Amino acid sequence: MLVKLIHQQHLALQELFARHQEALLQGHFDIADEWLQHFAYCQKAHMQIEEAYLFPEFAKIEHKSKWDVSLYVKEHAKIKILFQNIINDLNWLSEQELNESQRRRNIIALLDKEKTLKGLNQHHEEREEEAMLIELDAQLDARQLKELQVDIKMTWAEVMGVVKDKAG
Ligand SMILES: [Fe+2]
Ligand SMILES: [Fe+2]
Repeated sequence: MLVKLIHQQHLALQELFARHQEALLQGHFDIADEWLQHFAYCQKAHMQIEEAYLFPEFAKIEHKSKWDVSLYVKEHAKIKILFQNIINDLNWLSEQELNESQRRRNIIALLDKEKTLKGLNQHHEEREEEAMLIELDAQLDARQLKELQVDIKMTWAEVMGVVKDKAG
């Protein structure tokens, strides 16, 4: 099932982001940046998978939900921009000469900002899992679903392989 396959990718992404936040909370900016880069790389690949394999199919079927493919496309664009802002903020923060209190307050501010983004992203993922993917699973024929799953699994395995190599 596509919904299960993509849910696993969403979980893998959440785990990478959680590792970034753990490091950020401890003030380990280098490590936080490393995990954020891994996350951004995988998130981008995940979106490309959806855009290449799923959105074109979703555009073709009849929708039961009120959201059509353009909404998902717009959300991808918005999420990408907001994550880029976080990367920029973290780079800025790691270059500042701050005392302990200022450092902690800046970390709190960044975590607050990330909370907004996490909410938006979570909303997007839930919409995919509860609408788009359910509809694709219900409407595409078995052979087509199988082909999509094979392609998606292979592409994602390559992406995760790169991160595992880099993460050591
Ligand atoms: Fe998506
Ligand atoms: Fe997704």
